[in-house]
Amino acid sequence: MINIKTPREIDLMRVAGEIVGDTHKYLIPYLKPGITTEKIDSLARDYIIKRGATPSCYHYNGYPGNICISINEEVVHGIRSKRKLCDGDIVTLDICACYKGYHGDSAWTYAIGNISEEKKYLLEHTEKSLYEGLKQIKAGSHVGDIGEAVQKYVESHGLGVVKELVGHGVGNNLHEDPDVPNYGKKNTGPILKEGMVIAVEPMVNLGTADVCLLDDDWTVVTLDNKPSAHFEHTVLITKDGYEILTKR
Ligand code: MF3
Ligand code: CO
Repeated sequence: MINIKTPREIDLMRVAGEIVGDTHKYLIPYLKPGITTEKIDSLARDYIIKRGATPSCYHYNGYPGNICISINEEVVHGIRSKRKLCDGDIVTLDICACYKGYHGDSAWTYAIGNISEEKKYLLEHTEKSLYEGLKQIKAGSHVGDIGEAVQKYVESHGLGVVKELVGHGVGNNLHEDPDVPNYGKKNTGPILKEGMVIAVEPMVNLGTADVCLLDDDWTVVTLDNKPSAHFEHTVLITKDGYEILTKR
């Protein structure tokens, strides 16, 4: 069942989304060679708590971190550790916060120091693919409209779109109906209505689309070990379009 949010719920989700967006902005100055992912994770936790929210990922299905931190070939759900970021890395921070029972969810991939031209290309076109997907959204559009737009954009740029992981509804659960795949066909799938909230989150690989799971049972990596990027916003569906709740 796809929930339609009440005006009160939408107000709370705006706050949750703002906290997530602000957490990203807060962390950006720290994203330099030498910082450990453990440090980034604890800075994020402390900031989210200071804002009156809680990190939704913490202990979600047993996930041990406060936010997901994925480096280079790691696609999603990387776990904080003593590893230090290096010049030339790309790092995805996937941040979820819960405010008064409602969640916000946004992932963004950042360059650490000087990155290769191909990593720049990956970041630029993954971010653009998110907006290609979002452009499809208004009351009455189908979930498949988003997937088709993302997939066409990504594949026409010679990149691989991950299919095993998808976007989702957001509300008082971090993951709700509907699934929002980054592939598909126009005019298929559930119809979006005013007041629904979804997370659109293309995960895009520089090489092939294939992924696999590491032994820690969380970290998803590319099968060919080439880098991967991830850009995500939580958005409210409106009559004529959408409102980004996780503005940054
Ligand atoms: N934003 C991530 C997702 O939608 C949240 C993962 S929380 C985790 O998949 F605990 F599962 F890592
Ligand atoms: Co998400």
